[in-house]
This record gives sequence, structure tokens and C-alpha cells, in this order.
Amino acid sequence: MADLFDEKAADWDAGDMKQKLSKGIGSAILKSIHLSEAMHVMDFGAGTGLISSHLASKVKRITAVDISPAMLEQLAAKPELKGKVETVCQDIIKQPLGRQFDLIVSAMAMHHVLDTTLMLQRFAEHLEAGGQIALADLDEEDGTFHPADIEGVYHAGFNQMELQGILAKAGFVDIAFQIVITVFKDDKPYPVFLVTATKA
Ligand SMILES: C[S@@+](CC[C@H](N)C(=O)[O-])C[C@H]1O[C@@H](n2cnc3c(N)ncnc32)[C@H](O)[C@@H]1O
Repeated sequence: MADLFDEKAADWDAGDMKQKLSKGIGSAILKSIHLSEAMHVMDFGAGTGLISSHLASKVKRITAVDISPAMLEQLAAKPELKGKVETVCQDIIKQPLGRQFDLIVSAMAMHHVLDTTLMLQRFAEHLEAGGQIALADLDEEDGTFHPADIEGVYHAGFNQMELQGILAKAGFVDIAFQIVITVFKDDKPYPVFLVTATKA
């Protein structure tokens, strides 16, 4: 599969909206999840590491998973993440890691994965019993957030009730949604949710 983020990787962090999103999502994760220095965290669709950077000093280790070599290259070059974050360039939905984590976080990556049910089953498989998820993405929108001809975008945000049902079927409990930030494009608001839940 082509690296859809290849051209964007070098300038990713310079984007105002990306910074705003990662700040809003990162601080909401810090408020909603009790992080500890014993925790091994997976950042799914980690990109250049904007979310990992918010969490790295508070946990033992982060495994940054992404399918874009260019995005992970940017992440690996960040001095503040050296020694704390390992990168894995692999589609763990097709090829699971066979390892378990204490927490899986993700920001704005789920809408790039076609099969949400399989993705959430994989997240459950990659968690210890009692492990948690903190996943952020666009609330259901009308398809105008991304350009119409963009490749690799499979969902116009997510309907919270539908996602809650899929999470429950995948074995998650204590499922809670909150809107953590609203971003604007052409004066149009796009709310972003964070869903937290625990593997039963
Ligand atoms: C919109 S970017 C978000 C990056 C980062 N989380 C952030 O908040 O800046 C989406 C990321 O998801 C990654 N991605 C897409 N499909 C993926 C998959 N199946 N597995 C892992 N990462 C994936 C892309 O390569 C890209 O880096």
C-alpha cells in the first residue's frame, strides 16, 4: 500500500490544526486516564508522535504503531522520545504483534481503517485484562472534513452509539464518551470525541 502520509510527514507538526488537536486530545487523555510509570502504552496510528509526546514522561514505554514509514521517521527523530518510544511500522490489524499493553491510545487514525469491528477486536487482543483504551476521532460528520477525492479515509467520523455497540461486542466495559475539542474548517465546526473503556 502506498504511504498516503509520505508527502505530509515533514510538515505535519507545523499544521495549526494538528497542534490544536493533539493538545486537546493529549490533555483530555491525561485527565481521563490514570497513567503510571509502570505502564506500557501503544499509540495506534502514532504518526509523528504528537500524542506520544504528551504521555512519554509519565509512562514506562510507548510502542508507536503506524503504517507510514515517513511519519514514523519524524517521530524517531524527536529527542524527547528517544529511549522511551519504540516504532513499529506494521499493520497490526492484518498482522497482530502478539504482545499485550496496559493502554492503547489513538488520535485521528481510526477513520483511516476500513473495518472498525476488526480494529477494535485487535485492540482488545493487544490489551492485558483490565487494560484501557483512550481513542479520539471525529464525531459523525457530513463528509466535508476531508477533500472529496482523498484516498484512505473510510469514515466520515463515527456515530457514538454505533461505536459504543461495537466496543461492547469486542469485550469493553465502562465505555464513556466526551467531546474534547472542536476544530473549525471554513467556519464549520467538527467536534472530536475521546472514548475511554476497559477490557473486561
Ligand atoms: C491523521 S494521522 C494522525 C497521526 C497522529 N495520531 C496525530 O494525532 O498527529 C493518521 C495516522 O494513522 C496512520 N494509519 C492509517 N492506517 C493505519 C493502520 N492500519 N495502522 C496504523 N496506522 C495507520 C497513518 O499512517 C497516519 O500516520
